Amino acid sequence: MSDRIHTLSGYFYEYQKSVTEPESFWARIADSFHWKKRWDKVLKWDFEGPNVRWFVNGKLNITENIFEKNLFAYGDRTAIIWEPSEPGEDVRKISYKELYHSVCQFSNALKSKGIQKGDRVIIYMPMIPEAAIAMLACARIGAIHSVVFAGFSANALTDRIIDSGAKAILTSDGNYRGNKKIGIKAIVDEALEKSAVETVIVCQRTGQDVTMKAGRDYWWHEVIVGEKDSNVAEEMDSEDPLFILYTSGSTGKPKGVVHSTAGYMVYTKYTFENVFQYSPGDVYWCTADIGWITGHSYIVYGPLLAGATTLMFEGVPTYPDPGRFWAVIEKHKVNQFYTAPTAIRALQAYGTDPIAPYNLDSLKVLGSVGEPINEEAWRWYYNHIGQSRCPIVDTWWQTETGGILVSPIAGITPTKPAFATLPLPGIQLAIVDPEGNELTGNSVEGNLCVKYPWPSMIRTLWGDHARCKETYFSTYKGMYFTGDGVKRDHDGYYRILGRVDDVINVSGHRMGTAEVENAINEHPLVIESAVVGYPHEVKGQGIYAYVICDMAHRTEENLINEIKETVSKIIGPIAKPDKIQIVSGLPKTRSGKIMRRILRKVAEGSTDNMGDTSTLLDPDVVTKIIEGRK
Ligand code: WT7
Repeated sequence: MSDRIHTLSGYFYEYQKSVTEPESFWARIADSFHWKKRWDKVLKWDFEGPNVRWFVNGKLNITENIFEKNLFAYGDRTAIIWEPSEPGEDVRKISYKELYHSVCQFSNALKSKGIQKGDRVIIYMPMIPEAAIAMLACARIGAIHSVVFAGFSANALTDRIIDSGAKAILTSDGNYRGNKKIGIKAIVDEALEKSAVETVIVCQRTGQDVTMKAGRDYWWHEVIVGEKDSNVAEEMDSEDPLFILYTSGSTGKPKGVVHSTAGYMVYTKYTFENVFQYSPGDVYWCTADIGWITGHSYIVYGPLLAGATTLMFEGVPTYPDPGRFWAVIEKHKVNQFYTAPTAIRALQAYGTDPIAPYNLDSLKVLGSVGEPINEEAWRWYYNHIGQSRCPIVDTWWQTETGGILVSPIAGITPTKPAFATLPLPGIQLAIVDPEGNELTGNSVEGNLCVKYPWPSMIRTLWGDHARCKETYFSTYKGMYFTGDGVKRDHDGYYRILGRVDDVINVSGHRMGTAEVENAINEHPLVIESAVVGYPHEVKGQGIYAYVICDMAHRTEENLINEIKETVSKIIGPIAKPDKIQIVSGLPKTRSGKIMRRILRKVAEGSTDNMGDTSTLLDPDVVTKIIEGRK
């Protein structure tokens, strides 16, 4: 593992090299992969298009780099440990060789159903090994997967089926949530009332009843019968899309972030090995769901490319009790544990009693992702879970960045509570003021940009390159704009301050305020709404909605519940507002723009200084809103 950074000076050396000679830096790392044909040029780019191409004209298949390249060396090593939701149910351990055969067999079944290179396939599945097999089988034959988090509603699924033009959906009969069975196939059926795909393949998990439509719906265990468990991986171009992953933005419509094959492969493996300092034989556990980018890059692709043993957990942190995470760490002797601040804060609320029965001595590295981790949660995590001896890697990145951009390298570069610290090799950051001037030196604060390409960066938004340019490459000329505010302290360490756009981060999940507003407005009695985030003890940010409506003989309580249900149905339970305030008017400027600054202040309870409200059409509205605050 020559690409591993082992010392602090090694980090500075590699970082320097990656900036002065980026192409030879990345060529050296990419050379350790298997190419069907080596690239002609490492990088061609401009951020005007944007048009970014890494490992130009290289030919490869990412699954060959997980399997064929390594099966002789470690085919019998465990690739996936699967821990079921029910603690008493059997654990599944799948070796690299077994995973290879399952992926080949299922990819042959996909081909038999007419799915080809370039086709889009939606994966709407719970956290079972077949979900990873589904992703890899698509990659094997060059189909573009788009995983949709199984907590999203039928309506949200319909939107993604239509936008991606999907040909097939891979799903399951149901899912376990604690001791409840939740229908998944039923949601797919509902989504397909307003959209269409040729094929649906259903993996059996809960055994619950489902309806199967003849000629469209097939059982997973039936389609693989008679299919060979080997094949030749499809030859892909470096820049062929590997997957689409939908994420929220500041308008109502989710964006289909497109990641390409080679750059994503090189960057996720490199960052996985370095950030977590993974050594062969270690057991690594990331608690994310495969429906998010974290699940893609750091449960499936990064770890499997690195030959790691990756643990996949079907359940939730509080079932059967709030000690579950710690029980799983003890049971599987987990070495690297990667979770979200919201989970840490939720478990912190139960005190240390649920931790006490378990031996956490196997832990070497702790990770955090998804939102800024507050100092209190950082210290609790460090002291009680890491026993004051495990470094915490606070990893900052985004769906669009594909992999971690700013993070400590475990045990090698310093950590600092609430700081993501330093950029990884290859990442050239810039902090800019609102006019786009770069702020150099330390002790500065502004908006976070990246001024040079990195291999796993977003290539386009599916079907909307103009929106890609507009969202990320137009705010500041010649730079990728992240949407986050940031501070670089006196030591040169980066601290992410949170979103500066109309995006809120609820329990580490990105939510567009406009998207929630659109959903609220679907309720027939709603006239207008405005949504903002406010500080929430566990979720990081909560959703606060101000709604103008026609009361139509309903009590306020009934109406509020109905609105919550509407949002749950349109997007999914994760988007349900925490607080809804019925108002008679919204603070608007004379040009009709809602002054969100005021709504944010009221939501967070700091109502003593409202700032300048003189441009408001009707300043009285503010007084009324303050009086009615929830
Ligand atoms: C947004 C991206 C990256 C995978 C999960 C979320 C926030 C993410 C951190 C961190 C502070 C963070 C940012 C970013 N964020 N990680 N370590 N410290 N903020 O992916 O849904 O694409 O959201 O999450 O605001 O822009 P995502």
